[in-house]
Amino acid sequence: MTTKETFDFVKSHLPKPYYQDDYTALYHGDSMELVKLLPTSYVKMVATDPPYGILYKSGQRIITELDVIANDHELHLPFDELWRVTRSDGSMFIFYSWKVPMFRKVSVPMSVGEAKWTYTTLERDDRIRNEIIWYKGGGGMGDLKGDFANEYETIAFCPKENFVIHGDKRPTNVILDIPKVGTKRVHLTQKPVRLMDRIIRWGTNVGDIVLEPFAGSGTTGLACQKASRYCIMFELNERNCKIIRNRLSQMELDFGGGSEKLTAVDDYIQEDMFGEPDDIGSTETTG
Ligand SMILES: C[S@@+](CC[C@H](N)C(=O)[O-])C[C@H]1O[C@@H](n2cnc3c(N)ncnc32)[C@H](O)[C@@H]1O
Repeated sequence: MTTKETFDFVKSHLPKPYYQDDYTALYHGDSMELVKLLPTSYVKMVATDPPYGILYKSGQRIITELDVIANDHELHLPFDELWRVTRSDGSMFIFYSWKVPMFRKVSVPMSVGEAKWTYTTLERDDRIRNEIIWYKGGGGMGDLKGDFANEYETIAFCPKENFVIHGDKRPTNVILDIPKVGTKRVHLTQKPVRLMDRIIRWGTNVGDIVLEPFAGSGTTGLACQKASRYCIMFELNERNCKIIRNRLSQMELDFGGGSEKLTAVDDYIQEDMFGEPDDIGSTETTG
């Protein structure tokens, strides 16, 4: 199969997309259910920014729809299903918070003398190989006297058995050169396109398939579209689906029919650097 045929094969397992173009397909719905429909071992990378499950509270006085993240009261991550759909030479990159680390339930057999029993406990998932730090800068307001201003986010790197990091130079586990998105963002926890571009280039080649089951405003899809990777996105909130459709179809116009073609890097800078530095008013974002 060509990579396009593989992408179409993966899409054939899913319902009608809310939006699609040559490289992306967006599905409006619950990723917990949608991921179960995907065939096993067809995705090269899961690059995702789920709700962290820490119930984000904005410090802004005016609360808008932007302040609400669906399912942020607890972490819902179909980790095993995401692992199943990822190829053996693939990987998962998952944003998460130290406050809700990714644990799994394990059954531990115990015995004392004659008595034997099993109890369930939690341990950190050993599929997490590295924690990547994204230094996003910008401080934050929050509790000005009680908290340190949070200037970083963490990303769990979970490679499958045959995965190798792409690129000539070995990357370090700290990203220092990509600032967060300014105040004109369209989603509360919007990530920079350049950040998602960096991540997808660590784990995919042109034509590979990326899955983003918590799409938000579609940043992962936009990065994939620009870098000629295919991207399947799931998003629960229809308002966000509209935002994604607008962002991704705008992109088609930018690059379409003979109009002046921006270089990818210029375009990222335009998108990521608009607005003033973020002063959203929290020491930590949710995802
Ligand atoms: C942290 S945000 C992602 C932001 C994204 N990285 C961006 O740059 O815009 C997580 C998103 O997951 C969505 N979400 C939460 N639970 C979901 C679920 N079960 N299925 C699909 N989407 C979900 C939320 O609506 C939210 O937009």
